[in-house]
Amino acid sequence: MTNVTSNILRLMLLAVISSALAAGPAPVPLGTAKNFAILTETGVSTVPGSAVSGNVGVSPVTAAALTGFSLVQDISGQFWTSTQIDGHAMGATDAIPTPALLTVAILDMQTAYTDAMSNSLSNALQGVIGGSILAPGLYKWTTGVTISTNITLDGGASDTWIFQISETLTQAVNVHINLIGGAVSQNVIWVVAGTVSVGATAVFQGNILAQTNVVIGTQAIDGGCIYAQTELALGMATVLCSGAIHSAKSAVVNARL
Ligand SMILES: *[C@@H]1O[C@H](CO)[C@@H](O)[C@H](O)[C@H]1NC(C)=O
Repeated sequence: MTNVTSNILRLMLLAVISSALAAGPAPVPLGTAKNFAILTETGVSTVPGSAVSGNVGVSPVTAAALTGFSLVQDISGQFWTSTQIDGHAMGATDAIPTPALLTVAILDMQTAYTDAMSNSLSNALQGVIGGSILAPGLYKWTTGVTISTNITLDGGASDTWIFQISETLTQAVNVHINLIGGAVSQNVIWVVAGTVSVGATAVFQGNILAQTNVVIGTQAIDGGCIYAQTELALGMATVLCSGAIHSAKSAVVNARL
């Protein structure tokens, strides 16, 4: 074997090993939904004191469905700003190119929901997961799920988790989802057919793909992004969306998205 051939074989082997090192299901592509920390189809309500890190979009409803943000329209007409949002707020009737960007992002969010929900492996689990340490993987429930006490997701920085839930997801007041071993919120997907409720002062981790609505309680912290096919209610909550693109408040939307 020539040196070149053996080097190529060595590289191929390394590639196989490193792809095998990421535990858990294939990541769910979010498409252009990734440009938003929050994306919903019917609105977002908030109260003063909430803090969103990233862009907020609603479509097909207009920016009028973003309530409690005290929005200020940018001179371009393409987006709005709010002291609660570290990024842009956008609705379906803002100036071009915002409507088209939102239409595509909403379609990408719907596709991501369907992809994540149709993943077919399953671990049969009980509906209450308080206290559990969960390794990377796909977890499926045909019931609702209550996170009653702290849970821990233990895995590396490229490991993935998908939690498929056919009914509601409820995280109790003051309960934390803890990430250890280098696990990151962006690699965790909660795909939920029913309402997602995160209790007051709770700490939630992972991206939410909700078929209906999401409620984030008072002073709760959400480390992931929120994609809801109906509405989101934020109660003085913090949404960090760690992997999101943050449009600078002064930039026009097409330059930054
Ligand atoms: C839940 O996790 C948080 C953060 O790690 C910790 O401060 C708190 O004590 C935990 N609660 C319980 C009941 O273990």
